[in-house]
Amino acid sequence: MDRREFIGWISVSALANSLPVVLASCSVRKDKPQNKQENPKIDKNSRKNGFLVLGTVQDLNDKGILRDNQNAAKPVLIVRNPDNINLSAVNPTCTHQGCTVEWKTDTKIFACPCHGSKFSSDGKVLGGPAKKPLESFQAKEEDGLVLVKAI
Ligand code: FES
Repeated sequence: MDRREFIGWISVSALANSLPVVLASCSVRKDKPQNKQENPKIDKNSRKNGFLVLGTVQDLNDKGILRDNQNAAKPVLIVRNPDNINLSAVNPTCTHQGCTVEWKTDTKIFACPCHGSKFSSDGKVLGGPAKKPLESFQAKEEDGLVLVKAI
């Protein structure tokens, strides 16, 4: 094997080794689901009556909660009241020292992870140290959408 033939083999070998990398960088990413439906029709601007769309009834039913920290004036956590299936919308900021409460689906209460306060689905205090209820908001379903008046 002469020098020219040797360099030719090295070039072919280098090209063969880099081919998978080149092909991978040119391929289309398929890790995002292509058929996932977004909600392009939801207008999250406030309506004349002060209500704001924060999601769909379908989302609420699928996830059990709807949470919003961006569109409303205050943080909002929406659940379905287990007693009457109406919507319950509260500010999830604990009235004790400001931690964020969590919805417990098994016991149907809001519980604070910091010092253990407990609140009913409509925000009333069930157990301290918090003494004030969670701030609650008007919420309703309309045309498959969940609307909240969080001013
Ligand atoms: S901040 Fe919630 S119980 Fe203390």
